[in-house]
Amino acid sequence: MIVLKLRQEVNNAITALHAENKQVGFVATMGALHQGHLSLIDIAARENDCVVCSIFVNPLQFNDKADFEKYPNTLEADLKLLEAKKCAIVFVPDVQEMYGNEDTTQFEFGNLDKVMEGVYRPGHFLGMAKVVKRLFDTVKPDVAYFGEKDFQQLAIIRKFTHDLKLPVKVVGCPIMRETDGLAMSSRNMLLSKEERLVSPIIFKTLLGAKKKVGKISISELKAWVEAEINAVNHFKLEYFEVAEAENLTLLNEWKSLAPIMGFIVVRVNNIRLIDNIVLVP
Ligand code: PAJ
Repeated sequence: MIVLKLRQEVNNAITALHAENKQVGFVATMGALHQGHLSLIDIAARENDCVVCSIFVNPLQFNDKADFEKYPNTLEADLKLLEAKKCAIVFVPDVQEMYGNEDTTQFEFGNLDKVMEGVYRPGHFLGMAKVVKRLFDTVKPDVAYFGEKDFQQLAIIRKFTHDLKLPVKVVGCPIMRETDGLAMSSRNMLLSKEERLVSPIIFKTLLGAKKKVGKISISELKAWVEAEINAVNHFKLEYFEVAEAENLTLLNEWKSLAPIMGFIVVRVNNIRLIDNIVLVP
């Protein structure tokens, strides 16, 4: 496994791989790796000749400075995990290397950044898109893998990859969960013991919501979810939305085109935990 800091070095290494007709799979991360990230690497390894992974905590996508500052950094452990997964190249740029050159790409996300995370984290998706576009330009992957845990992010990446005609196939991968149901996340390690113990309530509530589909109205369902979450000490529902999976159109009534999904964000003190579930397949 080689660890590279410069875009040019990565570009050269990938050109060499492509010259040997190797298909390159890519997994972009912000580090603090867990089994969720590693599941993307496993899928990429199965479907490609070699895997490239990036670790870069992208300041542009953090609308909240405190969130950026407390974002966990476990680089040494991350590199060990990637080595064990036989990752071919790890790209670990610094901010200057990532953003030193100007890129005037214009992004247009349509409805996709007007809802949910787009409302609660202004500027987040533009910052995310800028870095992912640059990573694609640098790594030139044949296939790139993203988790469905960040479903809205995945939808936006699919859209700009298509709109900008980037030569990358984008693949969505299932949510990995702890055995108690909590969606794996780098932010979970910021939870206290007590908070971690009660956090499975989030997925439990999503499963409960799924059982209620069609039996109660969407506004009743939202009120139920809010009551379940806010009943837990230190837990505060930021939003629960019901939306069409296809275009993330928010729904107020059930009659709509399936698949329909439920999207949740819960604040535990100042830590944001995100999850989603297919409500109507
Ligand atoms: P990060 O949060 O590190 O996540 C990297 C990738 O891992 C994303 O595609 C995310 O959806 C996926 N992932 C995280 N937790 C997962 C889980 N429990 N199950 C399955 N996949 C999971 O998402 C980002 O970084 C950044 O926005 C990035 C795309 C790297 C751009 O900066």
